Amino acid sequence: MLSAQQILQKYFGHFAKYGHKQIPNVSVVPKEDSTLLFVNSGMFPLVPYLMGEPHPLGKRLTNVQRSIRFEDMEEVGQDIRHTTAFHMIGNWSLGDYFKKEQLTWIYEFFVEVLRLDPNRLYATVFKGDAFVPRDEESIEILKRIFKKYGIDAKLGERTFEFGRESNWWQRGDAIGEPGGPDSEIFYWLLDRPPKPGENPETAEDHFLEIGNSVFMQYVKTKTGWEELPQKNVDFGGGLERIAMVVQGKQDIFLTDMFEPVIRAIEKLTNKPYESHKKEFRIIADHMRASVIIGMDGVIPSNKEQGYVLRRLLRRMFRFAHKLGAKSNIVTQLVEPTITMLEWLYPWWREKQKQIEEIFTEEEKRFNNVLRKVLPKVEQLATRLAGKKANTEELAKYAFNLYQSLGFPPEMFEEELEHQNIKFDKKAYQEAYKKLFEKHQEISRKGAEKKFKGGLAEHTETTIRYHTATHLLHAALYTLIDPNIHQKGSNITNERLRFDFPLHRDLTKEEIKKLGDWVNERIKEGLPVNFVILNKEEAKKIAKYIPGEEYPEKVKVYYIGHTLEDAISREFCGGPHVKNTKEIPPIEIYKYENLGGGVKRLYARFRKE
Ligand code: ALA
Repeated sequence: MLSAQQILQKYFGHFAKYGHKQIPNVSVVPKEDSTLLFVNSGMFPLVPYLMGEPHPLGKRLTNVQRSIRFEDMEEVGQDIRHTTAFHMIGNWSLGDYFKKEQLTWIYEFFVEVLRLDPNRLYATVFKGDAFVPRDEESIEILKRIFKKYGIDAKLGERTFEFGRESNWWQRGDAIGEPGGPDSEIFYWLLDRPPKPGENPETAEDHFLEIGNSVFMQYVKTKTGWEELPQKNVDFGGGLERIAMVVQGKQDIFLTDMFEPVIRAIEKLTNKPYESHKKEFRIIADHMRASVIIGMDGVIPSNKEQGYVLRRLLRRMFRFAHKLGAKSNIVTQLVEPTITMLEWLYPWWREKQKQIEEIFTEEEKRFNNVLRKVLPKVEQLATRLAGKKANTEELAKYAFNLYQSLGFPPEMFEEELEHQNIKFDKKAYQEAYKKLFEKHQEISRKGAEKKFKGGLAEHTETTIRYHTATHLLHAALYTLIDPNIHQKGSNITNERLRFDFPLHRDLTKEEIKKLGDWVNERIKEGLPVNFVILNKEEAKKIAKYIPGEEYPEKVKVYYIGHTLEDAISREFCGGPHVKNTKEIPPIEIYKYENLGGGVKRLYARFRKE
């Protein structure tokens, strides 16, 4: 039986044969200007290159990328296939090969390399709409591919056509986002063949999507979709799901990417997986996602990534309590999670102790919260016994618990269910949302944008802010301290934000000088260009983020007439303006000390 590690090796080997170079598996916390909280697919670091920027490693790339999709956290556990964290194996053509090569090579991988039974494979294609025509080309290519394996791929029987909801992929909904029609590969899970009329939409429980080839040749405009200058391929497949079918499992939690943790939970709770599947799956899934997120530097908190981690950990503790585990949850489950994935993350071991401490601290805090919350919920249950609860009252209750004790409202909902309190879930959620909006108008806006999974738009404004960020960074290491480097950066259409390490406070005068320096460089009209260099060579002359993994060849953006006399040299994917005179003058309007020796500056374009 092939392990996930062997499957991955075979995938890289197969695509190396066709000239693909491997790019790194990067942190799930986006470093650049993103409004997404987490990296949610393998193509994440590739957006500028899909839009036409040349990639230092060429036009054929491949990787495995840890990814987080937390929006449906509450659904995990109900089925055999959904997980919060997963690994996406991916390959890309950046304006190089297209449909014929991609579909041929990927079926070759599944059938000839992994030896999946081609009779169990089914394909879908885009049926066309007002903007983009029907994908007849893929239908024909798939016919030829299946023929090679002795199968007559009839439309409506082996291949199926669907609309945008099923066969179109884009990462977010912003203008400037690349996207395109796709062709998905499904594995049939049952022992009998599908009956007429059973397809991936009508019988979705029996089909498992194991790969998606996106033909990314469009870009979103204000009114619709336009052709990109180049035709790209963006393939992604879930390694855990592929392992599930290759390893002949009917449940993703029984693959080698989960099972060791399931067994550890059996030990911890002294109960068998078979009789408590939902709870086991939640615990295993949330633990694995928490370790992945925690290892990338996130700490449980009430904001953004930290809040997602907090929710994952707290739900995990709660479900472990329900199965009878009272303590040592962290120490008993972090270890097997690390051991299970050590082949992919050898660097985790070094951080094991630190993660265990952080998670244990959260466990203690949560236990304190529970000690206060549970009696309240029980009282509520007694008061409401047999009655239908007033949803507004419940929402108010939940909101107070969240405000005073940080008890997640989603968990309050689960506690109510656990106590058999009858209430209208939808009305409760709406009432809660209303309350929340009233109290947190401002932070809500930011949060919602992120939670929707919207993408930082590559608009003219954000591109200008991006170059302005490089200038502000340069001002800091030129005027304040040559050791300053980027710790974090975030760009919206309204402002830029830049975090950097510095063990003292900036003075008002220094902040003014920084702004003046940037504005002088803008006025000078300096050209902005990039070169592609070997990583080690580049590290000697350009700024990079310490601890970040970079590929062998990197792109260095520089601002100035030549690389040698440039005032700024930075590792960066782009895009940027061509000349600093395209940027309006900036003003630094806020300075913050984030603690731990990290400072933050905000700047926006001055209103003339
Ligand atoms: N980016 C595509 C997906 O996530 C491959 O499905």
